Amino acid sequence: MKNLEKYIRDIPDFPKRGVLYKDITPLLQDPVAMRTAVQIFLDNLGDIKVDKVVGIESRGFFFATLLAEKLDAGFVPVRKPGKLPYKTISEAYNLEYGTDMLEMHVDAIKEGENVLIHDDVLATGGTAFAACNLVEHLGGNIVHCNFLVELSFLKGRERIKKYPVESLLKY
Ligand code: PRP
Ligand code: MG
Repeated sequence: MKNLEKYIRDIPDFPKRGVLYKDITPLLQDPVAMRTAVQIFLDNLGDIKVDKVVGIESRGFFFATLLAEKLDAGFVPVRKPGKLPYKTISEAYNLEYGTDMLEMHVDAIKEGENVLIHDDVLATGGTAFAACNLVEHLGGNIVHCNFLVELSFLKGRERIKKYPVESLLKY
């Protein structure tokens, strides 16, 4: 059961005209497919020690928590502005469709901790790049960035090329 592609549904013109949205909800509905995805992520990480898994709101949360539990690591949410209740640091970024800001709690990462960044989709890389900057601002050591889906033609990998990057499905 390695063919995860059939669990990703294409939605044309969502959330706006010209964008082909990669819908991961069919994958989330299937426990075997989810388990397979988690196992591939874990296999590709190998023996790297991970202290914190950073998941990016909102679609990054699903697998980031599953990975954190398996890796015996903590989970850290990176959220959109105004959602985190404690003191935050923030970083602006450009999105595939618009601009926004990401925030993280100031005590989320300790200096020198090994961090895995996870999100569902790597598109232009703006979101992942901003999350990486937040982690580094707190002294975290980014050991890996992984994604379910990579939209290769948007060249997001270039933005975060100083880190090891892995995606399960490339389009
Ligand atoms: C989507 C996707 C990634 C990001 C990728 O999130 O889930 O987080 O865009 O785009 P980029 O590589 O061009 O930055 P979105 O901001 O749409 O929000 P959501 O996860 O809450 O749906
Ligand atoms: Mg997202």
